[in-house]
Amino acid sequence: MHNRLVQIVTGLLCFFSIPLMAQPIVVNPAIKTASISPNMWGVFFEDINMGADGGIYAEMIKNRSFEFQKPLMGWKLDNKPFREGAITVQNRQQANTNNPRFIRVQATDVAGSVLSMTNEGFRGMAVKKDLRYDFSCLYQHADNQTDVRMQLELIDTLGKTLGGAIIQPAVSAGKWSKFTASFTATATNAKAKFRITFTGRGSIDLDMISLFPEDTWKKRPGGMRADMIQLLADMKPGFIRFPGGCIVEGFDLNNRYQWKKTIGPIEERQLIMNRWNVEFAHRPAPDYFQTFGLGFFEYFQLAEDIGAKPLPILNCGMACQFNSAELVPMDQLDPYIQDALDLVEFANGDTNTVWGKKRAAMGHAAPFNLTMIGIGNENWGPQYVERLQAFTKAIRSKYPGIQIIASSGTDPVGERFDFLNQSLRAMQVDFVDEHYYRKPDWFLSNASRYDAYTRNGSKVFAGEYAAHSDSKQTAEKRNNWQAALSEAAFLTGLERNADVVQMASYAPLFAHVEGWQWNPDLIWVNNQQVIGSASYQVQKMYALNKGTHAVTISRNGAVMAGKDSLYASAVIDANTQVLLIKIANVSATTQTLPIDIAGVKMQGKMVQQTLLQHPDLMAANSFDQPDNIVPVQTTVLCKSKTFTYEAKPYSFVLLRIALKK
Ligand code: AHR
Repeated sequence: MHNRLVQIVTGLLCFFSIPLMAQPIVVNPAIKTASISPNMWGVFFEDINMGADGGIYAEMIKNRSFEFQKPLMGWKLDNKPFREGAITVQNRQQANTNNPRFIRVQATDVAGSVLSMTNEGFRGMAVKKDLRYDFSCLYQHADNQTDVRMQLELIDTLGKTLGGAIIQPAVSAGKWSKFTASFTATATNAKAKFRITFTGRGSIDLDMISLFPEDTWKKRPGGMRADMIQLLADMKPGFIRFPGGCIVEGFDLNNRYQWKKTIGPIEERQLIMNRWNVEFAHRPAPDYFQTFGLGFFEYFQLAEDIGAKPLPILNCGMACQFNSAELVPMDQLDPYIQDALDLVEFANGDTNTVWGKKRAAMGHAAPFNLTMIGIGNENWGPQYVERLQAFTKAIRSKYPGIQIIASSGTDPVGERFDFLNQSLRAMQVDFVDEHYYRKPDWFLSNASRYDAYTRNGSKVFAGEYAAHSDSKQTAEKRNNWQAALSEAAFLTGLERNADVVQMASYAPLFAHVEGWQWNPDLIWVNNQQVIGSASYQVQKMYALNKGTHAVTISRNGAVMAGKDSLYASAVIDANTQVLLIKIANVSATTQTLPIDIAGVKMQGKMVQQTLLQHPDLMAANSFDQPDNIVPVQTTVLCKSKTFTYEAKPYSFVLLRIALKK
């Protein structure tokens, strides 16, 4: 009975909605309303969710230099029969303040004794059969009377070897030297470990014990996970914002991100605790640290590799206001400002300059072409404005060409936002960085947020956004289709207002399924797999189809920002003479949409449709079903004067139409 009633009501709704459905969408490719910035769609990388160490940084050894708070965290010692002092943690203290700890191993050749140490990796180590693994360490011997040998092995969870090598570093008495060795894995394993077994007699000191796979991004030694970076490259992002996020601010000022400590030889980069280690009681991450093997040089290089403009964010003299909220007194702000000025020199300076020389010494004599810099992340209040003013004055006076991106706090509305938005615009910052972590409904009802925005002055950088669905689904499944579809709808509003919003990036970017603190996230990984979420597919569709100019698209004379559950934007690519129309149908019904394209003879034209769709809003991409929600491309021939698009329920489509014959 109930079902029957539903059928009748649905039938009536369909019946009454027929005249509305017939309303055409009108697109005029000749009326350009805004230029689209070439770097409109970018990515935001933060070392959260094991994004860097244990993530894109391909180092397989956790706690390689024994600098974690617990010096042997990640390592398991096997010392049988037990000998006191067989492996000890040493501390050089003042002799090496950046990297004080190392271990001292005292080996004996007693038959039957075992002395080994095993590293568990970052939630295990993914090992691939026939792939080369590159080991390195720093070592020294106490004296010349030593013949310590080390058996290096990748092992499975039962201790079975998966390949390795036996090494005996040349005697290096009282002097740190580097040793390298490579070996090939004999089997594939998702949860391997790395064991070093010591034989021979004498003592050896070890530090920076490292293991990298050969297949890093661009095959760079000590590089990044190629499979993860590839997903970024595939998006052709216009910019990369780095390194955060809240890690820029730090839990306290001591814990803030200091770029100068992240460049140069990796053994000199001082490790600090990652603030996400202690941020959420419900997601503790006691083994989350920043080794800075991935530092500012590597971020700039990554930006260059993937054709994205670098957008570094610097601490503004304030620690996270949700945590310690420590402030640097104004009369002590100069070193912070100097860091910003020096960063510009590091990125762009001539190789004769102090910082340009350091860049060249790291292997990049050419400038990195830095054009913009962010001061502060999610900082707020008059204290922020005061500090930002000091930064702005110094940067503008020394580098007038550098654009300044400033924070509008944590929320896109409210008193804090209003105060900052006004203050920043009065200062004429180049970009106001807005963040929106909101429910899907917010994204739907805010698709017209920028339609009536002031067109003059500072531009908007949508620096962090993600629709947070109420779903109780866990981990990667929270990146469900409902969230992604509402983002797709919202982004039509950014594209329509591309004169106001000139950059946009989803956040956070990466999450390790066994090491995350925050969700949803754009890309989910384990040690072997990488999955683009439904939101990733949306971002990619925008980034790969950004066009050069927004053009008018309307229905019933109005922009399409939610009426009849429809959202749309249109751009043309003036270089390729292609029209790109994006339409989100967030309703549960198919909508028949005639599309009139002014000045274009549609009859006989091919229309390429790239469709992202799922009937279940709770559906998501997962490790079991990575391609559950991916774009499907079809081409249809338009047989009449007007092209009619059947918008499927819960769908987002890109229509691609050549303007010329
Ligand atoms: O993206 C996760 C966090 O969200 C960022 O660190 C911060 O900027 C925001 O609050």
